[in-house]
Amino acid sequence: MSVKALSYIGVNSDKLEDWSDYSEKCLGMQKVDRGKGTLSFRMDDHKQRLAITGDTGDSLAFVGFEVDKKEDLQTYAAKLESKNIKVTLGNSSYSDKRFVQELIHFNDPQGNRVEMVYNPMKDTEPFKPSRPISGFKTGALGMGHVVLHVKDFNKVVPFYRDILGFKISDYSNTPISLCFFHINSRHHSLALFGSGKVGFHHFMVEYNSLDDVGQGYDLVQYKDNAIAYTMGRHTNDYMTSFYSITPSGFFVENGWGGRIIDPSSWKSHETFEGPSFWGHERLYLPDDERMKFRNKRLDTAAKGKQAPLLVDCPWLYSKINNKN
Ligand SMILES: [Fe+2]
Repeated sequence: MSVKALSYIGVNSDKLEDWSDYSEKCLGMQKVDRGKGTLSFRMDDHKQRLAITGDTGDSLAFVGFEVDKKEDLQTYAAKLESKNIKVTLGNSSYSDKRFVQELIHFNDPQGNRVEMVYNPMKDTEPFKPSRPISGFKTGALGMGHVVLHVKDFNKVVPFYRDILGFKISDYSNTPISLCFFHINSRHHSLALFGSGKVGFHHFMVEYNSLDDVGQGYDLVQYKDNAIAYTMGRHTNDYMTSFYSITPSGFFVENGWGGRIIDPSSWKSHETFEGPSFWGHERLYLPDDERMKFRNKRLDTAAKGKQAPLLVDCPWLYSKINNKN
């Protein structure tokens, strides 16, 4: 039984025109006409990766994770129900709406709707990005990652780790509590951000080329209040990225060069470097909070901490991790 990839994300928002503009012009996704009142976007051969429901709220509506085998859905449902978590089997019109063969859904301890899906449908038409990008890095790595605000780590971490079987990649406690989980070779497909709030912090999409990210940066940075984090590089997944502000107020991380891990040899560990080697200036934060991250980053740089020169090499990473 295993969850193998982040399959899709749904957002409750009725700002359809703004989302259409943002997802196409900034992110480069392909809008697919699914009728009035909702929006649907492709990033690859999947029929749907991002859905905007048309409902008010400007928040996460649902997050879909793909399981390996059809019978995994029953196994997960039984496990969740044994912990008194209500599980609903999606009927055929629900599955059709999500473009999957079968699904179950339930809520995590903070009320986020999690959908577990089997066999997402593929489109026979090739993906056509709406701006000239080389494409998104998906496939076995999934759509990207999601990061959720968390009020109580003690309730949420055991849910994803012990019930759903997500593996902790690493975690940190300074300057803020963060916990990162992997379900495939992507360093993390889910992270929990200990902000003391509930809700959606960001999702990440990874591009095949750094130029895809840089050209997107140009497109958004000349708008007012469009950047949440400036361009920078993360210390744990080595992602070079910037964070743009969506029409719903949460962020999208536009990334390139993320770390590929070998889940069979990976050991979960605490990190002490802070979130970024450089950059990622958090423009959305008040000065005092911003300074905490800035000081941590300058300290990390002064200690000479940098990403290794090679990326995407699971063999090398497994050797380095075993040595440490
Ligand atoms: Fe991220």
